[in-house]
Order: sequence, then C-alpha cells, then structure tokens
Amino acid sequence: MSEDSRKYRSANWFGAGAKDGFNHRAWMKNQGTPHDAFDGRPVIGICNSWSELTPCNAHLRDVAERVKRGVWEAGGFPLEFPVMSLGETLMRPTTMLFRNLMAMDVEESIRANPLDGVVLLSGCDKTQPAMMMGAASCDLPTVVITGGPMLNGKFQGQDIGSGTDVWRFSEDLRAGKMTLADFMEAENCMSRSNGHCMTMGTASTMASMTESLGLTLPGASAVPAVDANRYRIAHLVGRRIVDMVKEDLRFSKVVTRKAFENAVRVNAAIGGSTNAIIHLIALAGRLGVELTIDDFDRLARDVPLLVNLMPNGKYLMEDYYYAGGLPVVVRSLAENGLLNDDVVTVNGASLTANAAEARNWNEDVIRPFDNPLNRNVGLAVLRGNLAPDGAVIKPSAATPALLNHRGRAVVFESIEELRAKVEDDDLDIDETCVMVLKGAGPKGYPGMPEVGNFPLPAKILRKGITDMVRISDARMSGTAYGAVVLHVSPESAAGGPLALVQTGDMIELDVANRRLHLDVSDTELARRKAAWTPPPTPMERGYVRLYHDHVMQAHEGCDLDFLVGGSGAPIPRESH
Ligand code: FES
Repeated sequence: MSEDSRKYRSANWFGAGAKDGFNHRAWMKNQGTPHDAFDGRPVIGICNSWSELTPCNAHLRDVAERVKRGVWEAGGFPLEFPVMSLGETLMRPTTMLFRNLMAMDVEESIRANPLDGVVLLSGCDKTQPAMMMGAASCDLPTVVITGGPMLNGKFQGQDIGSGTDVWRFSEDLRAGKMTLADFMEAENCMSRSNGHCMTMGTASTMASMTESLGLTLPGASAVPAVDANRYRIAHLVGRRIVDMVKEDLRFSKVVTRKAFENAVRVNAAIGGSTNAIIHLIALAGRLGVELTIDDFDRLARDVPLLVNLMPNGKYLMEDYYYAGGLPVVVRSLAENGLLNDDVVTVNGASLTANAAEARNWNEDVIRPFDNPLNRNVGLAVLRGNLAPDGAVIKPSAATPALLNHRGRAVVFESIEELRAKVEDDDLDIDETCVMVLKGAGPKGYPGMPEVGNFPLPAKILRKGITDMVRISDARMSGTAYGAVVLHVSPESAAGGPLALVQTGDMIELDVANRRLHLDVSDTELARRKAAWTPPPTPMERGYVRLYHDHVMQAHEGCDLDFLVGGSGAPIPRESH
C-alpha cells in the first residue's frame, strides 16, 4: 500500500489489516480483480440508473464501460453499481412520487460503500435531480454524465419531437384533423435511437442545468446519446474523476450559490422546463444554499430566450448540438454580463472560461443575444390570494393574449372528474373560462403529476381554439405548452386557497404584474375554509405514507423535510 493511500476514504475498507482487510478484498477478487487494485488508489463509484424499464437510460451500461476505461487509465479502481431508476413513461402514478426515494438510494449507496469519488449516470427526467440530490448529501467529488437526447423524430418528411408532438397529435386526433392510422404511424417514427426526450423538456433542461452547475464536462449535455462523442466524454470523465479525488474537488465546492445563479439564468435562455424550479430548489436545500422561487423570476427577468427548440420553438436537441450546444448560450450570456465568472466546474476551469471560444454554427437554432426568439420571458412567479406562497407560469409556452385574463372558474375537484367531464358537450364552459384543477399537488395526488396542461373540452377544440387559462397545483411536462398556471402553493390537499375555489368564481391572471387573484371576499373565503375538510391519507403504510407525511410544498422543492441538508460521507461503522 502506498504512503498516500491513507488519505482516501476507501483505505478504511481495502487498506485494513487482518480479518477485515481480508474480507473486503477477498470477496472483491471473485470478480477477477488483481491485487494491486487495492494498493490505495482512488476508488470510483459509477452510480448507474440503467434500466430496461427506463428506456431513456437503457444505454447507460455501455456508457459505464467507457467510464471504467478512463478510470483504470488514470490509475483509479472503478466499481459500477445500480440504483433505483425512474422511467417517466411507465411508472405510476408519477415518477415525482419516487424522486426522493431514488435520492435516498443514491445517497445511502454511496455513503455505505468504499468510494472516494462518484460518476453519476442519469438520463430520464427525475433520474437527474434524484442522483444529484443524493450525491450532494454525501459531498464526494462527483461528475455527472447525462444520457444524451435521442436523434430527431422523423414523420412524413417533418421533424417531430417527443412529448410536444404527442400533445399536438392527440389534440389533432380528438379534433378530427388527424387519422388514427397516421397517429399510429407517428408512434413508429418518434423514438429513433437511444436517449432521452429530444425536445427542451425536463430531461434536456435538467441536463443543461447539470452542465450549468458545473457538474459535467463542457458541452456534454447536448451530445446525442448515440454520438461517439458521448462515449468519448465518458472515457474522459473516467480520467478526470480520479484527478478530482486527488484534488478533493467536492460537490459542494462546485455547486455553490453562484453556480445556481448561473443555472437559473441559463434556464431562462434555453426556455427550460418549469420542473427545473422544483428540482434546483430541492438540490440547493441539500447543500444548504438559499434558493427561492423568486430567484427564478428576478434573475431571469433580463434574460432573453435564445434557444429555438420545442416546445417554445421549432428545432430539436440534435440541431442544437450541431449549432454548438450550451457553450454558445453560456458565452452569449457571459458576454452580456449575466453570468458569474468565478465558479469552478468539474474540469477545474470556470463555466464561462470553458465557453470562451464557443462558436455558433446556426443562428436560427441558437439566436444571437440581440436577436432573441423572445425577450423577457423566463419563468414568471405569480402571487395573490389564490397562491400566497407562489405559482409558476412559463410565458414563452403560453398564448400571449391569455397572459392578462379575467374569467369564470370551472372547477374540477380531481383529475378523474376532469377526465369524466371534459368530453361532455353539456359542460357549461366556453373559451373565456378559467379551468381549475384541484388535488394534483405533492400530497394530493400524491406525487404532483404532470397534468397541469390538462386537455381542453372537446367542444372548444372543435372551434379551432387550442389554448385556455388553466390553473392547478400540478406540474407540467417540460415538453408541454399552454397558458397554464402551475405549482400553486400551498396545494389544495394541504388546505391552500385553491381548495376553496368554486365554479362561477371570477379569477384574474396578470402575468406582467405577477398577480393571480381569486375575486372572492375574505369573509366568504374564511367561511369556505371553516367548512373544508382535508382529503383522506392516500395510503396507510409504506413509502407513500412516509412521502405524504413529510413532503414539502412546491415552492420548497418537494423534498422530504428530513432529507434537507447533508451528512457528508463519514466512514460507517464496521459490520464484522
Ligand atoms: Fe424519459 Fe422524456 S420520457 S426523458
């Protein structure tokens, strides 16, 4: 064993003498590991969310192999291990219910094992924040490799985007503008390769946030899953994480308040998902960094929308990669004084220094700062007697005329009631009404599903109208669009004012003034509150009960209250 080895955490397992050292090393040797792997070199955990039930992450075992090559080459000892995976398309009721459970798995798997540094392999939406949250609470040197987007979908000569075009096709089918045969054919054309959604949905957004926070190598987030450059990056990450252990460049040294400020501004410039608000606030909570929903509004107000990707624009991630990807956006924001320079990333240089030479190869995909797709859009945080702790709207994804609107509420007490009534032509509703959905918040559903862009009534769609003001305590898929007010906090199931709205009430939405107002007197609201009873607990036992009893509200990031903060990575007590 080398003199240096005692400085690494793993030496407490593999460097031990007598029976303990024998046990720790001998059982590892059943995998054919040579003895010199235990000579005190950095042990690198490759934390893999691979799963065939998570199609967006199905290629990550191949990525892990490339990481291992780099780790061996740099003199480290790589060990891959699985953690829970969260597949957006299959899991019910919603992956968000399990984000914190996966984060617990990641955290405890890292802490319990002889690891000195970690490479996180993520992909589908919730796998990204869950892995970062868990690793943040351990605070070892950490690099993230996001899985990369799928290639562009291709259908009838057009590019089609995952999620965004599914919403459009299903509305067209309901409105009689698309045949069932074409709808079925589109299904064969959407997902052409490995990778996550290739729109600027939550996965692409969170990959961009991961890079903006400094946790990936420069330019890594946009590389398509099947591009050889993704495998090259994985190899380089394997080398780099070994050096990061030697430099003791820990998670908390990279992801600071200034790094979050950079990420919030980048999120506005890329037209990122509203889900980023919840995930970044939860991650900040793990690190003891103060980050609020108001930061997303305040920091993003002077940031123009530069990236012309669905659902805000027309292109897809493959086009964005060819145009230059995130470094182009970073350079553009930095040159206009919108980013912090003094924030180190995992490669040891700052985010802005890494992007200093970035070139824009397609100015329609990534617009120049002085010719943006849209000005002053960002994410607007609304307040008022309907959302005392805040609500969120993404103006760039909404019909502009609806951003200042007063209308009669039509209330649905649950998503099931909405589904039962929305096709009924006798429903008393027109396009000037405000649709209100309750019971879809963190506790209410439970898990705060992505139903905030709920469907318009069929009779309104048939008029050719495609957007209405919709308000809920739900989230919205990052691939979706519409004049939808989301994340109303406190949620209805926690007794927030949303629970008190009745059909026929008037609601005012004024995005320019950040106002969401229920035009009902305080006296009447107090009377309704006194008569309100909370919904029953969704489950009596197990993780869902734990989640229900401890989940925090949307404006607090929806983490479990006892998971806020971190415990570092002390050496656990020995078992034998
Ligand atoms: Fe996995 Fe969209 S379904 S990223």
